[in-house]
Amino acid sequence: MDEHLRILAVDDAPDNLVLLDRLLKRQGFDVVNASSGKECLAKSASEHPDLVILDVAMPEMNGFETLKHLRGNEITKDIPVIILTANSKDAKSIEEGFSLGADEYLTKPIDQDELIARVRSILRVVKAEHEIEQLKSDFQSMLVHDLRSPLSVIIGVLELGAAGEFDQNPAEMKEFLNSALETSQKMLGLINDILDVAKLEAGRLQLNKQPNDLNSLVADAAARLKVLAREKGVTLKIERDESLPICECDGGKIDQVVTNLVGNALKFTPKNGEVKIRTYKNSFADDIPGLKGLYVALEVSDTGVGISDDELPLIFDRYRQAKSAKGSTQKGTGLGLTIVKRVTEAHGGKVFVESVLGKGTKFTVFIPARGND
Ligand SMILES: Nc1ncnc2c1ncn2[C@@H]1O[C@H](COP(=O)(O)OP(=O)(O)OP(=O)(O)O)[C@@H](O)[C@H]1O
Ligand SMILES: [Mg+2]
Repeated sequence: MDEHLRILAVDDAPDNLVLLDRLLKRQGFDVVNASSGKECLAKSASEHPDLVILDVAMPEMNGFETLKHLRGNEITKDIPVIILTANSKDAKSIEEGFSLGADEYLTKPIDQDELIARVRSILRVVKAEHEIEQLKSDFQSMLVHDLRSPLSVIIGVLELGAAGEFDQNPAEMKEFLNSALETSQKMLGLINDILDVAKLEAGRLQLNKQPNDLNSLVADAAARLKVLAREKGVTLKIERDESLPICECDGGKIDQVVTNLVGNALKFTPKNGEVKIRTYKNSFADDIPGLKGLYVALEVSDTGVGISDDELPLIFDRYRQAKSAKGSTQKGTGLGLTIVKRVTEAHGGKVFVESVLGKGTKFTVFIPARGND
């Protein structure tokens, strides 16, 4: 697991350096050596180490001075540093090391197990940070792509119009304008989704709670999605509990939940399949953590492609799409389920999913019924 992590070992005593080098390499790390403060600064900038192990007692530039320079340079300021010193009892120099930004402090002679334990614990954090950076950059490039391609369609249409291309052909102009309009609406939808997710994540989404009937929210959403179901050749069934209690919820947001779940079910179910929406009520005792009392339930099940067991826990993460989705003709962004989960939780509810690859998927959302708070 550590093969790509690089450590820069700095010590003016060749014997120590050899020892460190051997010890770290044996653990599978990539090791770079430096025998002076100056060399350390140069290699920290050029070799991009994930960690520096720095001896304090060195001629010319000692470890503290070297650390000061490392912290002062934009490129090297965030690299974790473990300071090595022979002054085990010198509290003042330990304090100086920390105040200059050392992450750990070890005394010589080196206790090998302790050194390795410290190195590993620092590198665990470094690794987690790398992963977050990677996710962020994937996320940004996807965003740029998803926003740029529709915008270029719109610009293209406007350029043609401005150049007079449609002057003689109003029918063609209408057709192009309509496609630009549709593209703009999709783009606005995407931007709204992104903003929603950002707000939900910051806990800043304002819920406009009103007494609502889940059955009628379901009926409205189903009426809108009927066309899509027909186009896809998928049967859309509704099974409503007519004695469903009212719930205090934000109708617009719960509509997003229904629309996303049913939209997904239709998207990931091939021709001749079936999508079923069911509502019911359920009372929880203490059987499921986080649920207690009376809830209204929305169940959306399909006979579609399904989701594998190892991907199932991940599909609520933003921008996450399962492998089984790759064949789908309609491209998505991977935000729908993030919104479903966050909106449900903002209402004090919970969402569950069960799936069998190649057979189908069932999502169940529980929202507290009125009076359950
Ligand atoms: N009913 C379903 N059947 C099979 N896979 C599903 C189903 N619902 C969701 N998934 C999987 O979960 C992934 C995430 O769903 P989500 O709704 O968040 O994103 P999306 O539909 O791909 O894009 P978006 O909703 O942003 O347009 C999907 O890409 C798909 O892999
Ligand atoms: Mg979706």
